[in-house]
Amino acid sequence: MPEVDQEVVLSRSFEKVNAILQKHQHNPSNLVGILQEVQEEYRYLPEEILTYIATALGVSPAYVYGVATFYAQFSLKPKGKYIIRVCDGTACHVKGSMGVLKAVREYLGLKEGEDTTPDLLFTVETVACIGACALAPAMMVNEEVYGLLDEEKVKTILERYEEGRE
Ligand code: FES
Repeated sequence: MPEVDQEVVLSRSFEKVNAILQKHQHNPSNLVGILQEVQEEYRYLPEEILTYIATALGVSPAYVYGVATFYAQFSLKPKGKYIIRVCDGTACHVKGSMGVLKAVREYLGLKEGEDTTPDLLFTVETVACIGACALAPAMMVNEEVYGLLDEEKVKTILERYEEGRE
């Protein structure tokens, strides 16, 4: 799988960050909103961008970093284009969510401690009930819900994303 050139990603990022800062009139009290939009755009908050935002807003990098690490919604690690959320709520757990998680991780070739593929295509997480208990075990890929999963179904779904068919 090809490595992503972080330099290229970052130089593109600053242009977009500038537009977001502009939209918020460089107002430090809009920091959470700014970080939300930056993360929406890039799927995570690179350290370099946090420092850049701090300078642009005239606040300390420690303050921006503090806000970014305080809220669980923010990620300082790169995330994949597709976020796979394997439900581990009670109904899904009983129906084998751990087997689903194992199948996903095996399919993606993730090693212990890894949750994102090196090509930044997939990130896998576990979440509490996603409201599809009748379809347990279930998972989401971005906004799409998939249920009644087994190893084979997981493989077919992920293959479709990999091949750009979803
Ligand atoms: S417990 Fe998994 S969808 Fe409700």
